[in-house]
Amino acid sequence: MTIYLDNAATTHPKPEVVYRALDHFARSEMANPGRAGHRMSLAAERVLDDTRHRLNQFFGGSSPERWILTLNCTDALNIAIKGLVAQGDHVITTNLEHNSISRPLRAMEKAGLISLTRIEADRDGTLRLEDLEKALERPTKLVALTHASNVLGTVQPIPAIGALARSRGATFLVDAAQTAGVLPINVAAANIDLLALAGHKGLFGPVGTGSLYVAPGINLRPWREGGTGGDSSSETQPTLMPYYLEGGTPNVLGAAGLSAGLKWLTEFGVDKIHHHEVALSQRLVAGLRGIPGVEVFGIDDWTRRVATIPFRLETLPATELGGILDQAFDIAVRPGLHCAPYVHKALGSYPEGLLRVSPGPFNTEEQIDILLGAIREIAA
Ligand code: ALA
Repeated sequence: MTIYLDNAATTHPKPEVVYRALDHFARSEMANPGRAGHRMSLAAERVLDDTRHRLNQFFGGSSPERWILTLNCTDALNIAIKGLVAQGDHVITTNLEHNSISRPLRAMEKAGLISLTRIEADRDGTLRLEDLEKALERPTKLVALTHASNVLGTVQPIPAIGALARSRGATFLVDAAQTAGVLPINVAAANIDLLALAGHKGLFGPVGTGSLYVAPGINLRPWREGGTGGDSSSETQPTLMPYYLEGGTPNVLGAAGLSAGLKWLTEFGVDKIHHHEVALSQRLVAGLRGIPGVEVFGIDDWTRRVATIPFRLETLPATELGGILDQAFDIAVRPGLHCAPYVHKALGSYPEGLLRVSPGPFNTEEQIDILLGAIREIAA
Protein backbone atom coordinates (compact mmCIF):
# COMPACT_ATOMS: atom_id res chain seq x y z
CA MET A 1 0.00 0.00 0.00
CA THR A 2 1.20 3.51 -0.78
CA ILE A 3 2.95 5.36 2.02
CA TYR A 4 1.42 8.79 1.62
CA LEU A 5 3.64 11.61 2.89
CA ASP A 6 2.30 14.55 0.86
CA ASN A 7 -0.18 15.95 3.38
CA ALA A 8 0.94 19.54 2.79
CA ALA A 9 -0.55 19.23 -0.71
CA THR A 10 -3.73 17.54 0.46
CA THR A 11 -4.38 15.26 3.41
CA HIS A 12 -4.87 11.56 2.75
CA PRO A 13 -6.58 9.49 3.90
CA LYS A 14 -9.51 11.47 5.29
CA PRO A 15 -11.16 10.39 8.53
CA GLU A 16 -13.74 7.66 7.90
CA VAL A 17 -16.61 10.00 8.87
CA VAL A 18 -15.73 12.27 5.93
CA TYR A 19 -16.16 9.44 3.41
CA ARG A 20 -19.46 8.53 5.06
CA ALA A 21 -20.73 12.11 4.96
CA LEU A 22 -19.83 12.41 1.26
CA ASP A 23 -21.57 9.16 0.43
CA HIS A 24 -24.69 10.04 2.42
CA PHE A 25 -24.99 13.52 0.94
CA ALA A 26 -24.34 12.37 -2.64
CA ARG A 27 -26.99 9.69 -2.42
CA SER A 28 -29.78 11.48 -0.60
CA GLU A 29 -29.42 15.28 -0.40
CA MET A 30 -27.43 16.44 -3.42
CA ALA A 31 -29.90 19.01 -4.70
CA ASN A 32 -29.26 22.66 -5.54
CA PRO A 33 -29.19 24.64 -2.27
CA GLY A 34 -31.49 27.58 -1.82
CA ARG A 35 -32.74 27.45 -5.42
CA ALA A 36 -36.06 25.80 -4.60
CA GLY A 37 -38.19 25.27 -1.54
CA HIS A 38 -38.26 21.46 -1.68
CA ARG A 39 -36.91 19.25 1.08
CA MET A 40 -33.75 18.18 -0.68
CA SER A 41 -32.88 21.77 -1.59
CA LEU A 42 -33.39 22.83 2.04
CA ALA A 43 -31.25 19.94 3.26
CA ALA A 44 -28.46 21.04 0.90
CA GLU A 45 -28.74 24.63 2.16
CA ARG A 46 -28.46 23.31 5.72
CA VAL A 47 -25.17 21.63 4.84
CA LEU A 48 -23.77 24.99 3.72
CA ASP A 49 -25.05 26.66 6.91
CA ASP A 50 -23.53 23.94 9.08
CA THR A 51 -20.18 24.31 7.36
CA ARG A 52 -20.13 28.08 7.83
CA HIS A 53 -21.14 27.71 11.49
CA ARG A 54 -18.37 25.22 12.13
CA LEU A 55 -15.78 27.40 10.37
CA ASN A 56 -16.92 30.42 12.34
CA GLN A 57 -16.70 28.58 15.63
CA PHE A 58 -13.41 26.92 14.85
CA PHE A 59 -11.63 30.16 13.88
CA GLY A 60 -13.43 32.61 16.19
CA GLY A 61 -15.09 34.60 13.40
CA SER A 62 -17.72 37.29 13.91
CA SER A 63 -20.59 35.39 12.21
CA PRO A 64 -21.17 32.44 9.86
CA GLU A 65 -22.15 34.54 6.83
CA ARG A 66 -18.65 36.09 6.75
CA TRP A 67 -17.29 32.68 5.55
CA ILE A 68 -17.28 32.50 1.76
CA LEU A 69 -17.08 28.94 0.46
CA THR A 70 -14.49 28.69 -2.29
CA LEU A 71 -12.91 26.10 -4.59
CA ASN A 72 -9.63 26.04 -2.69
CA CYS A 73 -7.21 28.44 -1.01
CA THR A 74 -6.05 29.90 -4.34
CA ASP A 75 -9.65 30.83 -5.17
CA ALA A 76 -10.06 32.46 -1.74
CA LEU A 77 -6.84 34.46 -2.15
CA ASN A 78 -7.88 35.62 -5.63
CA ILE A 79 -11.31 36.74 -4.38
CA ALA A 80 -9.60 38.69 -1.61
CA ILE A 81 -6.80 40.28 -3.65
CA LYS A 82 -8.81 41.12 -6.77
CA GLY A 83 -11.79 42.28 -4.73
CA LEU A 84 -9.77 44.67 -2.60
CA VAL A 85 -6.82 46.10 -4.49
CA ALA A 86 -7.39 48.99 -6.91
CA GLN A 87 -5.36 51.07 -9.36
CA GLY A 88 -2.48 52.90 -7.68
CA ASP A 89 -2.41 50.83 -4.47
CA HIS A 90 0.76 49.72 -2.71
CA VAL A 91 0.81 46.09 -1.58
CA ILE A 92 3.34 44.30 0.65
CA THR A 93 4.07 40.60 0.39
CA THR A 94 7.04 38.28 1.02
CA ASN A 95 9.39 35.93 -0.81
CA LEU A 96 7.88 32.98 1.09
CA GLU A 97 4.63 33.04 -0.84
CA HIS A 98 2.96 30.36 -2.87
CA ASN A 99 2.11 31.39 -6.46
CA SER A 100 -1.50 31.86 -5.36
CA ILE A 101 -0.38 35.17 -3.80
CA SER A 102 2.72 35.86 -5.88
CA ARG A 103 1.15 35.49 -9.32
CA PRO A 104 -1.95 37.70 -8.99
CA LEU A 105 0.11 40.43 -7.34
CA ARG A 106 2.98 40.22 -9.85
CA ALA A 107 0.49 40.30 -12.75
CA MET A 108 -1.09 43.45 -11.30
CA GLU A 109 2.34 44.98 -10.83
CA LYS A 110 3.37 44.13 -14.40
CA ALA A 111 0.13 45.65 -15.70
CA GLY A 112 1.04 48.91 -13.92
CA LEU A 113 -1.96 48.67 -11.59
CA ILE A 114 -0.15 48.43 -8.26
CA SER A 115 3.27 48.87 -6.72
CA LEU A 116 4.56 45.83 -4.89
CA THR A 117 7.09 45.42 -2.08
CA ARG A 118 8.35 41.87 -1.57
CA ILE A 119 10.00 41.48 1.84
CA GLU A 120 12.77 38.89 2.06
CA ALA A 121 12.71 36.44 4.95
CA ASP A 122 15.80 35.05 6.70
CA ARG A 123 17.22 31.82 5.30
CA ASP A 124 15.27 29.90 7.95
CA GLY A 125 12.02 31.49 6.73
CA THR A 126 11.53 34.11 9.45
CA LEU A 127 10.30 37.60 8.58
CA ARG A 128 11.76 40.59 10.42
CA LEU A 129 9.13 42.97 11.75
CA GLU A 130 11.47 45.92 11.15
CA ASP A 131 11.45 45.13 7.40
CA LEU A 132 7.67 45.21 7.42
CA GLU A 133 7.69 48.43 9.43
CA LYS A 134 9.98 50.04 6.87
CA ALA A 135 7.82 48.89 3.94
CA LEU A 136 4.75 50.27 5.72
CA GLU A 137 6.26 53.77 5.68
CA ARG A 138 4.56 54.05 2.29
CA PRO A 139 0.76 54.18 2.42
CA THR A 140 -0.27 50.54 1.96
CA LYS A 141 -3.59 49.00 1.01
CA LEU A 142 -2.79 45.35 1.69
CA VAL A 143 -0.30 43.16 3.53
CA ALA A 144 -0.66 39.62 2.13
CA LEU A 145 1.39 36.75 3.45
CA THR A 146 1.48 33.12 4.39
CA HIS A 147 1.04 31.94 7.98
CA ALA A 148 3.53 29.12 7.35
CA SER A 149 5.70 28.55 4.30
CA ASN A 150 4.65 25.48 2.31
CA VAL A 151 8.33 24.75 1.71
CA LEU A 152 10.11 25.48 5.00
CA GLY A 153 7.14 25.24 7.36
CA THR A 154 8.27 28.30 9.33
CA VAL A 155 5.36 29.92 11.18
CA GLN A 156 5.12 33.73 11.19
CA PRO A 157 4.08 35.82 14.22
CA ILE A 158 0.71 36.63 12.70
CA PRO A 159 -0.85 38.62 15.61
CA ALA A 160 2.13 41.01 15.74
CA ILE A 161 2.23 41.41 11.95
CA GLY A 162 -1.52 42.02 11.87
CA ALA A 163 -1.33 44.63 14.63
CA LEU A 164 1.44 46.45 12.78
CA ALA A 165 -0.36 46.32 9.41
CA ARG A 166 -3.61 47.56 10.92
CA SER A 167 -1.88 50.36 12.85
CA ARG A 168 -0.76 51.74 9.47
CA GLY A 169 -4.21 51.42 7.94
CA ALA A 170 -3.41 48.35 5.80
CA THR A 171 -5.75 45.38 5.42
CA PHE A 172 -4.21 42.11 6.58
CA LEU A 173 -4.68 38.99 4.42
CA VAL A 174 -3.38 35.66 5.73
CA ASP A 175 -2.84 32.55 3.63
CA ALA A 176 -3.52 29.72 6.09
CA ALA A 177 -3.24 26.90 3.53
CA GLN A 178 -0.64 25.12 5.66
CA THR A 179 -1.92 26.04 9.12
CA ALA A 180 -5.74 25.90 9.14
CA GLY A 181 -6.52 22.89 11.31
CA VAL A 182 -2.83 22.47 12.12
CA LEU A 183 -2.30 25.37 14.53
CA PRO A 184 -4.96 27.18 16.56
CA ILE A 185 -6.04 30.36 14.75
CA ASN A 186 -8.42 32.96 16.16
CA VAL A 187 -9.06 35.59 13.52
CA ALA A 188 -10.02 38.29 16.03
CA ALA A 189 -7.09 37.71 18.39
CA ALA A 190 -4.66 37.46 15.46
CA ASN A 191 -5.79 40.80 13.93
CA ILE A 192 -6.73 39.11 10.65
CA ASP A 193 -8.99 40.95 8.20
CA LEU A 194 -9.05 38.27 5.52
CA LEU A 195 -8.25 34.61 6.13
CA ALA A 196 -7.88 32.27 3.15
CA LEU A 197 -7.79 28.55 3.76
CA ALA A 198 -7.89 25.19 2.03
CA GLY A 199 -10.65 22.83 3.11
CA HIS A 200 -8.83 19.76 1.76
CA LYS A 201 -5.64 20.00 3.83
CA GLY A 202 -5.66 20.30 7.62
CA LEU A 203 -9.44 20.49 7.82
CA PHE A 204 -9.84 17.07 6.12
CA GLY A 205 -12.46 18.06 3.56
CA PRO A 206 -12.28 16.75 -0.02
CA VAL A 207 -10.37 18.54 -2.79
CA GLY A 208 -12.36 21.40 -4.30
CA THR A 209 -13.06 23.04 -0.94
CA GLY A 210 -11.77 26.21 0.68
CA SER A 211 -12.97 29.33 2.39
CA LEU A 212 -12.36 33.05 2.74
CA TYR A 213 -13.19 34.85 5.97
CA VAL A 214 -14.08 38.50 5.45
CA ALA A 215 -14.05 40.49 8.69
CA PRO A 216 -16.80 43.06 9.27
CA GLY A 217 -15.86 46.40 7.76
CA ILE A 218 -13.80 44.86 4.95
CA ASN A 219 -15.49 45.46 1.62
CA LEU A 220 -14.59 43.42 -1.44
CA ARG A 221 -15.81 43.84 -4.98
CA PRO A 222 -17.52 40.64 -6.15
CA TRP A 223 -15.32 38.81 -8.59
CA ARG A 224 -17.66 35.97 -9.52
CA GLU A 225 -21.15 37.33 -10.24
CA GLY A 226 -24.17 35.19 -11.04
CA GLY A 227 -27.02 33.25 -9.55
CA THR A 228 -27.32 33.29 -5.78
CA GLY A 229 -30.65 31.54 -5.38
CA GLY A 230 -32.32 34.64 -3.94
CA ASP A 231 -33.20 38.21 -4.98
CA SER A 232 -33.36 37.14 -8.63
CA SER A 233 -34.91 40.45 -9.71
CA SER A 234 -31.79 42.38 -8.74
CA GLU A 235 -29.94 43.41 -11.92
CA THR A 236 -26.56 43.20 -10.21
CA GLN A 237 -25.08 40.94 -7.56
CA PRO A 238 -27.18 41.10 -4.33
CA THR A 239 -25.04 42.56 -1.55
CA LEU A 240 -26.14 40.10 1.13
CA MET A 241 -23.23 38.03 2.52
CA PRO A 242 -22.15 35.34 1.86
CA TYR A 243 -24.01 35.23 -1.49
CA TYR A 244 -22.45 38.55 -2.54
CA LEU A 245 -19.15 36.75 -3.14
CA GLU A 246 -20.51 33.31 -4.10
CA GLY A 247 -22.17 33.33 -7.54
CA GLY A 248 -23.17 29.95 -8.97
CA THR A 249 -24.07 26.57 -7.54
CA PRO A 250 -21.66 25.92 -4.68
CA ASN A 251 -19.72 22.71 -4.07
CA VAL A 252 -22.22 21.41 -1.51
CA LEU A 253 -20.90 17.86 -1.75
CA GLY A 254 -17.48 19.19 -0.81
CA ALA A 255 -19.01 21.23 2.01
CA ALA A 256 -20.66 18.09 3.39
CA GLY A 257 -17.24 16.47 3.59
CA LEU A 258 -15.61 19.61 4.97
CA SER A 259 -18.23 19.94 7.69
CA ALA A 260 -17.63 16.31 8.73
CA GLY A 261 -13.86 16.94 8.67
CA LEU A 262 -14.22 19.97 10.94
CA LYS A 263 -16.41 18.02 13.35
CA TRP A 264 -13.89 15.18 13.49
CA LEU A 265 -10.99 17.60 13.97
CA THR A 266 -12.75 19.43 16.80
CA GLU A 267 -13.40 16.15 18.61
CA PHE A 268 -9.96 14.64 17.92
CA GLY A 269 -7.98 17.80 18.76
CA VAL A 270 -5.69 20.06 16.74
CA ASP A 271 -2.95 19.89 19.40
CA LYS A 272 -2.89 16.09 19.38
CA ILE A 273 -2.44 16.00 15.60
CA HIS A 274 0.24 18.69 15.63
CA HIS A 275 2.15 16.91 18.38
CA HIS A 276 2.07 13.65 16.38
CA GLU A 277 3.17 15.33 13.14
CA VAL A 278 6.01 17.15 14.88
CA ALA A 279 7.23 13.93 16.52
CA LEU A 280 7.31 12.19 13.11
CA SER A 281 9.07 15.19 11.57
CA GLN A 282 11.75 15.23 14.25
CA ARG A 283 12.34 11.52 13.74
CA LEU A 284 12.69 12.08 9.99
CA VAL A 285 15.03 15.08 10.33
CA ALA A 286 17.27 13.19 12.79
CA GLY A 287 17.41 10.21 10.41
CA LEU A 288 18.08 12.35 7.32
CA ARG A 289 20.95 14.14 9.05
CA GLY A 290 22.65 10.79 9.53
CA ILE A 291 22.67 10.02 5.77
CA PRO A 292 25.80 11.23 3.94
CA GLY A 293 25.03 13.66 1.10
CA VAL A 294 21.65 14.79 2.47
CA GLU A 295 21.04 18.49 3.20
CA VAL A 296 17.97 19.29 5.30
CA PHE A 297 16.40 22.77 5.31
CA GLY A 298 14.29 24.65 7.88
CA ILE A 299 14.51 25.64 11.53
CA ASP A 300 15.07 23.29 14.46
CA ASP A 301 12.67 25.22 16.70
CA TRP A 302 9.52 23.11 16.30
CA THR A 303 7.44 25.59 18.31
CA ARG A 304 7.67 27.77 15.18
CA ARG A 305 7.26 25.15 12.51
CA VAL A 306 4.68 22.91 10.90
CA ALA A 307 5.37 19.45 9.53
CA THR A 308 6.95 20.05 6.13
CA ILE A 309 10.50 18.84 5.71
CA PRO A 310 12.40 19.88 2.57
CA PHE A 311 15.76 18.31 1.76
CA ARG A 312 18.02 17.33 -1.11
CA LEU A 313 20.45 14.61 -1.96
CA GLU A 314 23.69 15.92 -3.48
CA THR A 315 23.90 13.10 -6.05
CA LEU A 316 20.37 13.16 -7.47
CA PRO A 317 17.96 15.93 -8.53
CA ALA A 318 14.82 16.15 -6.33
CA THR A 319 12.47 15.19 -9.16
CA GLU A 320 14.43 12.00 -9.84
CA LEU A 321 14.54 11.13 -6.16
CA GLY A 322 10.76 11.70 -5.92
CA GLY A 323 10.23 9.52 -9.00
CA ILE A 324 12.30 6.65 -7.57
CA LEU A 325 10.49 6.84 -4.23
CA ASP A 326 7.18 6.64 -6.09
CA GLN A 327 8.07 3.96 -8.65
CA ALA A 328 10.36 1.70 -6.67
CA PHE A 329 9.12 2.17 -3.09
CA ASP A 330 5.49 3.35 -3.48
CA ILE A 331 6.15 6.39 -1.29
CA ALA A 332 4.30 9.61 -2.22
CA VAL A 333 6.17 12.88 -1.59
CA ARG A 334 6.42 16.18 -3.47
CA PRO A 335 9.61 17.16 -5.33
CA GLY A 336 10.22 20.43 -7.21
CA LEU A 337 9.53 24.08 -6.53
CA HIS A 338 6.23 23.60 -4.66
CA CYS A 339 4.66 26.55 -6.55
CA ALA A 340 6.88 28.82 -4.42
CA PRO A 341 9.80 29.86 -6.66
CA TYR A 342 11.03 32.89 -4.67
CA VAL A 343 11.80 30.93 -1.51
CA HIS A 344 13.71 28.35 -3.54
CA LYS A 345 15.74 31.18 -5.09
CA ALA A 346 16.60 32.38 -1.57
CA LEU A 347 17.58 28.87 -0.48
CA GLY A 348 19.74 28.24 -3.56
CA SER A 349 17.51 25.36 -4.65
CA TYR A 350 16.17 27.05 -7.80
CA PRO A 351 15.35 25.75 -10.41
CA GLU A 352 15.91 22.08 -9.41
CA GLY A 353 13.84 22.37 -6.22
CA LEU A 354 13.86 20.14 -3.16
CA LEU A 355 12.07 17.02 -2.03
CA ARG A 356 9.33 17.80 0.50
CA VAL A 357 7.99 15.26 2.99
CA SER A 358 4.85 16.19 4.92
CA PRO A 359 3.49 13.69 7.46
CA GLY A 360 -0.13 13.72 8.58
CA PRO A 361 -2.16 12.33 11.48
CA PHE A 362 -2.43 8.84 10.03
CA ASN A 363 1.28 8.30 9.35
CA THR A 364 3.34 6.13 11.67
CA GLU A 365 6.93 5.95 12.91
CA GLU A 366 7.30 2.74 10.96
CA GLN A 367 6.46 4.55 7.70
CA ILE A 368 9.05 7.24 8.46
CA ASP A 369 11.63 4.50 9.03
CA ILE A 370 10.72 2.86 5.71
CA LEU A 371 11.22 6.21 3.97
CA LEU A 372 14.58 6.68 5.68
CA GLY A 373 15.60 3.17 4.65
CA ALA A 374 14.66 3.92 1.03
CA ILE A 375 16.66 7.16 1.01
CA ARG A 376 19.68 5.39 2.53
CA GLU A 377 19.47 2.76 -0.18
CA ILE A 378 19.16 5.35 -2.97
CA ALA A 379 21.97 7.50 -1.52
CA ALA A 380 24.29 4.48 -1.33
N1 ALA B 1 -0.06 24.24 -2.17
C1 ALA B 1 0.06 22.83 -2.15
C2 ALA B 1 1.44 22.36 -1.81
O1 ALA B 1 2.18 23.06 -1.18
C3 ALA B 1 -0.53 22.17 -3.30
O2 ALA B 1 1.80 21.26 -2.18
